[in-house]
Amino acid sequence: MKYPLVLSSALVTVMLVGFAPSGWAASDEVPDPVEIESGNPFSGDPEAIEAGARLYGRWCVQCHGFKTDGVSPRWGKWAFDLRKWFWGYEKFIEVVAVGKLPKMPPFGEYLDFDQISQIGSFLETLAFEEANWK
Ligand code: HEC
Repeated sequence: MKYPLVLSSALVTVMLVGFAPSGWAASDEVPDPVEIESGNPFSGDPEAIEAGARLYGRWCVQCHGFKTDGVSPRWGKWAFDLRKWFWGYEKFIEVVAVGKLPKMPPFGEYLDFDQISQIGSFLETLAFEEANWK
């Protein structure tokens, strides 16, 4: 019975090494998300958070990354680290709707107020200590 055990632990090692996303080591050092105060009416609503996560995956992930840290899966370090959003809930709505050209596109045509709020409620769950969503 010794052989299969050794084999399986070797397999696990290969899988960990093979599939660890780049930046894995760095992500060990990031602070845990914290609970924060929020001005978002959807704050803490599980359905809104799930909807927000889906919207994020559709509209934002290609630039802001799977970890919302601004590391694009295509272009590497690219956009703002959304876990550190500091300018409050209303400013978030505004900047997502209006954009920040040339690099951050406006989404007002595609996402309504509620949808942007849902994305915000999702991002809040990943917020770092210095973040501000009031
Ligand atoms: C085409 C790439 C791209 C997409 C898609 C994108 N962003 Fe951005 N975003 C950026 C870049 C680049 C910046 C940094 C812009 C700068 O600092 O001028 C940014 C900045 C931001 C900021 C900070 C703006 C500020 O005031 O500094 C917020 C908030 C933001 N994005 C939210 C979102 C959300 C939410 C989505 C999805 C709905 C999204 N972005 C989709 C590229 C993108």
